[in-house]
Amino acid sequence: MVSYKELGLVNTREMFAKAIKGGYAIPAFNFNNMEQLQAIIKAAAEEKSPVILQVSKGARNYANATLLRYMAQGAVAYAKELGWEHPQIVLHLDHGDSFELCKSCIDNGFSSVMIDGSHLPYEENVALTKKVVDYAHQYDVTVEGELGVLAGVEDEVSSDHHTYTNPEEVIDFATRTGCDSLAISIGTSHGAYKFTPEQCTRDPKTGLLVPPPLAFDVLDAVMEKLPGFPIVLHGSSSVPQEYVKIINENGGKLPDAIGIPEEQLRKAAKSAVCKINIDSDSRLAMTAAIRKVFNEKPGEFDPRKYLGPARDEMEKLYKHKIVNVLGSNGKAE
Ligand code: G3H
Ligand code: 13P
Ligand code: ZN
Repeated sequence: MVSYKELGLVNTREMFAKAIKGGYAIPAFNFNNMEQLQAIIKAAAEEKSPVILQVSKGARNYANATLLRYMAQGAVAYAKELGWEHPQIVLHLDHGDSFELCKSCIDNGFSSVMIDGSHLPYEENVALTKKVVDYAHQYDVTVEGELGVLAGVEDEVSSDHHTYTNPEEVIDFATRTGCDSLAISIGTSHGAYKFTPEQCTRDPKTGLLVPPPLAFDVLDAVMEKLPGFPIVLHGSSSVPQEYVKIINENGGKLPDAIGIPEEQLRKAAKSAVCKINIDSDSRLAMTAAIRKVFNEKPGEFDPRKYLGPARDEMEKLYKHKIVNVLGSNGKAE
């Protein structure tokens, strides 16, 4: 058993309480390689932002569980080396799909886990989430549950609300499971194709697709039922069109990729939404930078010459999210 406390990590409890009070959100950035981790830590340290390092099941398999634990410990040491005296860094399991996976992460230095039972029948979701909470809380590890299924690009996001979180269930779920935060579904979705062109309108001036707004009425109803309870938004990449353009101009093919407009996320960050998940935007930043080098310098084969620019681009992106979207800069001096 390796406790996250030995690694210098923190859980999400205090972080979320402060974020809700302060009207900002904590960035939860997914990572699976060294360059992403370096960029996240550099951005967080320089902006003095609390940060959640988020690892999916696939990323854990990719990076190796043992190596990950040392990477997280290394991240804390690196943050201090960069002059961040008291780093507030969480190591979080993203979309845990079983008790066994959550337990393995808790036993290997994670300070927070998500158990995603959102696809299960309600009572099964409650039972599984409670089982994880009961184990996690013995070690002061915090737990994120999920209610409501994130909209897929196939769904009629703008008209069919049946996958949104049902506000009538949230009190029962939070009380019976004891979870520390709740991921909800209000119209976001994973990946770089969050809406079909048919679900969007077109800006007559720019010709760009404009997605339908998020269901803030559902968020408001959840907040009314659970005042002050930490809410999490998954699928919150904005899919910056400048990256999509660079990718497409340099041999890539991402037609009609579209994300959540930043002003909607800014609005969410000011509410009880205190954790905002971003993965795809970092993948796009990395891919855009690498494709550009490959296209412009076909003779380049030193990985540092393309992973370096990719790392710089991700750092820029993370800082932008922290300062201009989530407002978490300066909240962890
Ligand atoms: O929610 C999904 C995250 O973006 C992680 O994706 O399972 O491909 O690592 P992944
Ligand atoms: P994006 O695909 O929008 O980046 O969402 C990531 C996420 O929710 C990870 O859990
Ligand atoms: Zn997610």
